[in-house]
Amino acid sequence: MLAEILGNKQIRTDQDSLQHWGKDWTNGFTVAPSAVVFPETIEQLQELVRYAISADVKLVPSGGRTGLSGGAVASNGEVVVSFDRMNKILDFSEQDRIVTCQPGLITANLQDFAEQQGLFYPVDFASSGSSQIGGNVSTNAGGIKVIRYGLTRDWIAGLKVVTGTGALLDCNAGLIKNATGYDFRHLMIGAEGTLGLLAELDVQLTVMPEPQVVMVMGVPNVGDLLKILQSFNAGLTLSAFEFFSDVALQKVRDHRSLPAPLSQPEAFYALVEFDESANSAAEAAFAACMEAGWVTDGVVSQSASQAAALWQLREGISEAIAPYTPYKNDLSVRISDVPEFLADVDNYVANSFPDFEVCWYGHIGDGNLHLNILRPEHMSVEEFFHHGHAMSPKIFALVAERRGSISAEHGVGLLKRDFLDFSRSPEEIALMRGLKGLFDPHEIFNPNKLLPVDDGLAADKN
Ligand code: MLT
Ligand code: ZN
Repeated sequence: MLAEILGNKQIRTDQDSLQHWGKDWTNGFTVAPSAVVFPETIEQLQELVRYAISADVKLVPSGGRTGLSGGAVASNGEVVVSFDRMNKILDFSEQDRIVTCQPGLITANLQDFAEQQGLFYPVDFASSGSSQIGGNVSTNAGGIKVIRYGLTRDWIAGLKVVTGTGALLDCNAGLIKNATGYDFRHLMIGAEGTLGLLAELDVQLTVMPEPQVVMVMGVPNVGDLLKILQSFNAGLTLSAFEFFSDVALQKVRDHRSLPAPLSQPEAFYALVEFDESANSAAEAAFAACMEAGWVTDGVVSQSASQAAALWQLREGISEAIAPYTPYKNDLSVRISDVPEFLADVDNYVANSFPDFEVCWYGHIGDGNLHLNILRPEHMSVEEFFHHGHAMSPKIFALVAERRGSISAEHGVGLLKRDFLDFSRSPEEIALMRGLKGLFDPHEIFNPNKLLPVDDGLAADKN
């Protein structure tokens, strides 16, 4: 009985709570957990696992539920394990610059804590005010500063995890050097809660960067974006290199009542961020891009608040287009493949679905493109998603041709599960299943996520 493990306030079974905690930001999946629980200690996590084994109950770990691939959706009577009450900073080592925290710590609170220490936690994205660090670890979250600082994986110095037998593993303990074989920490990062329940995290901080300057440029031809990137990379270190289309800009401007950044609209825009001391190098790169005709105009922030205002144009897009229930894609290829890949996907969508509005944006400096196709007002969500489902194999085939990823940073979850073989080979998927069996022998964690349903055909495909 759950009540033997947890107090009254730590269990909820009312419909509102089940609907609230049983889903993330992904649309289109049934939400039907049987309970939501709010553990407070590692011991309670272990007891929950033992209970799940004995009662044959499935557990769905749940963080800030900002995911976009259905990784935190509970559709089938599972017990949702919310980390909302495991949200504390437990320790800080000034010498190591390591924060030890619980998985439910809100990402923005970690960023604020770092700032209070005169330090910096660099992984950042629009949903950092709601997302939890445990969820970021589970999807190896990326965001807007990957070009300079890498992914969540690069900042996790250690973690504790409760496996599917209830055992507690203490992985890496904040060590910089540790050559003792397989690093289970890195297996847990990006595992989407399928191998264990994260229990504690050691997060590395770094030095605070200089004040940041943001520049937004108008770019008529999307194919020139990479030339612009190269030009800036030659002269300075960028903290971000993002792009968005005019369709995306219009949506975010309408949604937030924002002024246009430039006097004339362009088909695309590049947003770059860099250290204040790189201002003249950035101006020189900008002038070279103007000279080459890749850029037609630009605006540079003169203060932190102007920089934040320009960031809104990019970071507000996802929220602005949410009412259109978009068919979302989170694709990546090598940077050098981006121009041709983007043109191929664009042509495919334009030729096959000429009536659909296409909204491009993303972290182009990382080779990560967010293709969002907006639902026409007159079309039902069901019909629209039906078209989306038909498009997926075609778009993912263009990804696979370039050995790219069908999910660069949002994870696989339920949404991409059946398409995993566009990015991972049958041998890799079989090894993943083997690992799942080792860490979760009773199959209690996050059922049906990440791995395609094993229909016994995998062997035949070999
Ligand atoms: C973003 O880059 O804005 C996020 O990944 C969210 C999204 O893709 O909509
Ligand atoms: Zn993104």
